[in-house]
Amino acid sequence: MRILALESSCDETAAAVVEDGRRVLSSVVASQVEEHRLYGGVVPEIASRRHSEAVVPVTEQALAQAGLSLSQIDAVAVTYAPGLIGALLVGVNFAKGLALAAGKPLIPVHHIRGHIAANYLTHPELQPPFLCLVVSGGHSHIVLVEDYTKLSVLGQTRDDAAGEAFDKAARAMGMPYPGGVAMDKLAESGNSQAFRLPRPSVEGATYDFSFSGLKTAVINLLHTARQRGEEISTADLSASFRQAVVDCLTRNFIKAAEDTGIRKLVMAGGVSANSLLRRQLQEECRKRGWEFYMPELSLCGDNAAMMGAQAYYEFQAGNVAGMELNARAALSIDRSYGDLL
Ligand code: KG4
Ligand code: ZN
Repeated sequence: MRILALESSCDETAAAVVEDGRRVLSSVVASQVEEHRLYGGVVPEIASRRHSEAVVPVTEQALAQAGLSLSQIDAVAVTYAPGLIGALLVGVNFAKGLALAAGKPLIPVHHIRGHIAANYLTHPELQPPFLCLVVSGGHSHIVLVEDYTKLSVLGQTRDDAAGEAFDKAARAMGMPYPGGVAMDKLAESGNSQAFRLPRPSVEGATYDFSFSGLKTAVINLLHTARQRGEEISTADLSASFRQAVVDCLTRNFIKAAEDTGIRKLVMAGGVSANSLLRRQLQEECRKRGWEFYMPELSLCGDNAAMMGAQAYYEFQAGNVAGMELNARAALSIDRSYGDLL
């Protein structure tokens, strides 16, 4: 089954063709990041406008790269939640038009489920059940993936998402948006022991995260140094901050695996590109003899191939939409489209 998938939940307009949930026939991503950088973050109104401009050429390119016409596609899939509502609506409305015009089934896909499915593309042998750490700009979740469309959240952030924490701390250090990537690079040359930062936990909720205190600690350190006229090594501060975030993520994820007895661990989302997080989780799982999977770097950030992978399993579970499909800014990962009807 060949699925044409569209993604427009944030600042990337993407289209891809994926076969049987596992094979990428084409994948095109048009990023708006350069434009949003001017404002220090994503401007929703600009994002919607750029999606409207890019959605047609990006889709045409995805079909051309796959060497297929619309009539040779078996279904159209689209990210319908969660995300920026105006941005999502561009993809949803375009996908509805395509599906209607071509007479193909329309498959709505949850963005975070798509991030998890990126792993099905990198690791064709991977099958649920497994435990997944989802770390992106908007989410930090520990998800129990019982089956492809049966997911539940064991833990989540109480305040900032991991990517958001990276971006805010990086911004405080003067790095351009999105600072997570730049901070990761700089941290490689820094000393992670140079600054003593907390490893916050949430009382009574072992798997939940809290990153806002950590971010504030960094901002306070920078302010104090500035007031005293002291120089701070941003490489050392980046390394110390990155280590603290990664330690919190690792601690809760490993604990969830210990408690549930699940020995297959998976990571997903934009922050799964973080080099320390990749090394540390791999090592912790290796030491324990547990299986560990993460997406290849090109599939960590937002793309449509991962949505096409998840769409295959949503279709098999009967999660197909009609022209009533609407976008949703927020939607829990445990809700399937069929549950909403
Ligand atoms: O999954 P994603 O592309 O978009 C959302 O669904 O949010 O995640 C984007 C986030 C941004 O906050 C970005 O700074 C972060 O992922 N990110 C990183 C790295 N690469 C991307 N954070 C830390 N280290 C990285 N190497
Ligand atoms: Zn994302």
